[in-house]
Amino acid sequence: MVKSSATDRETGNPMDYYIAPSLLSADFGRLAEKVRAVERAGADLLHVDVMDGRFVPNITIGPPAVAAIKRCASVPLDVHLMIVEPEKYIDAFAEAGAGVITVHAEATPHLQRAVARIRELGKKSGVALNPSTSISAIEWVLSDVDMVLLMTVNPGFGGQAFLPGMLGKIELLRSQLARTGLPVDIEVDGGVKADNVSLVVKAGANVIVSGSGIFGTKDYGKTIAQMKENIRKASGEGEKR
Ligand code: DX5
Ligand code: ZN
Repeated sequence: MVKSSATDRETGNPMDYYIAPSLLSADFGRLAEKVRAVERAGADLLHVDVMDGRFVPNITIGPPAVAAIKRCASVPLDVHLMIVEPEKYIDAFAEAGAGVITVHAEATPHLQRAVARIRELGKKSGVALNPSTSISAIEWVLSDVDMVLLMTVNPGFGGQAFLPGMLGKIELLRSQLARTGLPVDIEVDGGVKADNVSLVVKAGANVIVSGSGIFGTKDYGKTIAQMKENIRKASGEGEKR
């Protein structure tokens, strides 16, 4: 975690920053080894992408694989559910050892019930938005969540290009949260790498998912250290503005 000396320029609260490598870009045949490698390299969370072939055009893993990752992990699992009717599986992913469970606002007509259930199970609750979904979709659940995940690519695959139009959405959400005074993290997911992390941090994000931006590099330790250094600088600049 990067404990910034800077404070949130809107609320004056100290901001903590977290790096969450996305295991989607790791070699699934050597997952335990890869988990340990990114943890040694400074990962604060492990981002686990669950896809069902319906909400997104790709299929990944379910609760048994999440439980297996949990057995070899020492940092919390940040489980991103890209599945329809996520409410049916929240209990199973909680049982599998998720620390944070995030559901998509587009995936359920009963969003408040879903995020409230996550908290009821003693987990951190998150809500995610596709790039084309407006922030107004989550206005009435902001007090029920610990984190909002803003997709910065269309979900389904690792290695896609960051959508720069999402920077304004991050800024908008950060200022809305500041107005409400709610202590909600903003996670960004998709196309984030060491060379553009400063942009999302300046816009107001504090939980940084990176898949190919970490696993596609040779030295994970060096990459994460560079990301943290860039975050430190960018958050300081945010303070001065
Ligand atoms: C995409 C997933 C992301 C993905 C990010 O649908 O939700 O977590 O793994 O990968 P990169 O960082 O390579 O865009
Ligand atoms: Zn994800």
